[in-house]
Amino acid sequence: MNHPAICKNSVAVVTGAALGIGYAIAHKVAKEGMDVVLFDKNSVALKSAASSIRRDAPDVNVLAIEGDVTSQADLHGLYEQACEFGRVSLLVNNAAIITGAGPWDGMSKWRTLMEVNFWSALTLQQLFIETMFSQEGNAAIVNVGSKEGITTRPGNAAYSVSKAAIKVLTEQLAHELRERVGDRITAHLLIPGYTFTPMNFPDMTSSTHKPDAPWTADQVADRLVAQMAKGEFYIFCEDNEASWELDQRRMQWAADDLILKRPALSRWHEDYADQFSAYVADIAPQ
Ligand SMILES: NC(=O)c1ccc[n+]([C@@H]2O[C@H](COP(=O)([O-])OP(=O)(O)OC[C@H]3O[C@@H](n4cnc5c(N)ncnc54)[C@H](O)[C@@H]3O)[C@@H](O)[C@H]2O)c1
Repeated sequence: MNHPAICKNSVAVVTGAALGIGYAIAHKVAKEGMDVVLFDKNSVALKSAASSIRRDAPDVNVLAIEGDVTSQADLHGLYEQACEFGRVSLLVNNAAIITGAGPWDGMSKWRTLMEVNFWSALTLQQLFIETMFSQEGNAAIVNVGSKEGITTRPGNAAYSVSKAAIKVLTEQLAHELRERVGDRITAHLLIPGYTFTPMNFPDMTSSTHKPDAPWTADQVADRLVAQMAKGEFYIFCEDNEASWELDQRRMQWAADDLILKRPALSRWHEDYADQFSAYVADIAPQ
């Protein structure tokens, strides 16, 4: 049985729904009988996504809205149109970009990235939650995080900061919801692993061969729906390179940096390379 927010005659709103994981989630919940609102700035991909979902889930209603999550007007427009479309029981804050910016450079890239990856999610969360409080029945908010917001691999500080912010925001939301409405409205943090999407493969087409390492976006969407049904908050995806056991050790190592007063990000510090290798050595390869 699905999470009660994923049900017929209810609406799912998904940002960044034209491609990749957002599309896979919208497609999956439409197949489960939900009406879907697809929001994306890529008009061509959005049209194609809407037609594919209409073809594969002919009994549901599909509304495609072209817009940019960095525009407050577009986000308010999305909220109003979605509420007119039906009873919104699922919000998936998925849209994100990965534009690189380091600790002391790319200030304008930082601002744009935080607008797309963080502020838009907070804005939509605040808009839709009031409706979810006032309407009857179950609802859920899914914010899409990343392992890069947990173990914070060096190389793209802006992206890691945005995903760490999403993690904390969603944890706080889950707690406040539990205190206020019990499990009538739930929050979930989706943590994809390495996934075969345009984010990682910008030139991919339907005929591009998937390498072995990443999961497909459909695997991520299937994992989301399955684990929501079990009431999980942290919905974690391994991939074909990193097992759950390896990710557990990586997260434990990251937490231990603080507890053991090691240098920041010691996993990538040359003095700790051997110690980290030994720490994960007994984990069988995927
Ligand atoms: N792909 C991965 O390996 C991976 C891993 C961990 C987390 N994630 C997270 O999963 C989510 C989806 O990632 P993906 O790989 O499917 O990304 P993607 O780049 O393949 O697709 C993102 C979609 O969002 C849309 N989008 C981007 N900026 C937008 C904006 N300003 N307004 C409206 N729409 C916009 C794009 O047009 C696109 O359709 C993101 O939150 C990402 O950070 C992805």
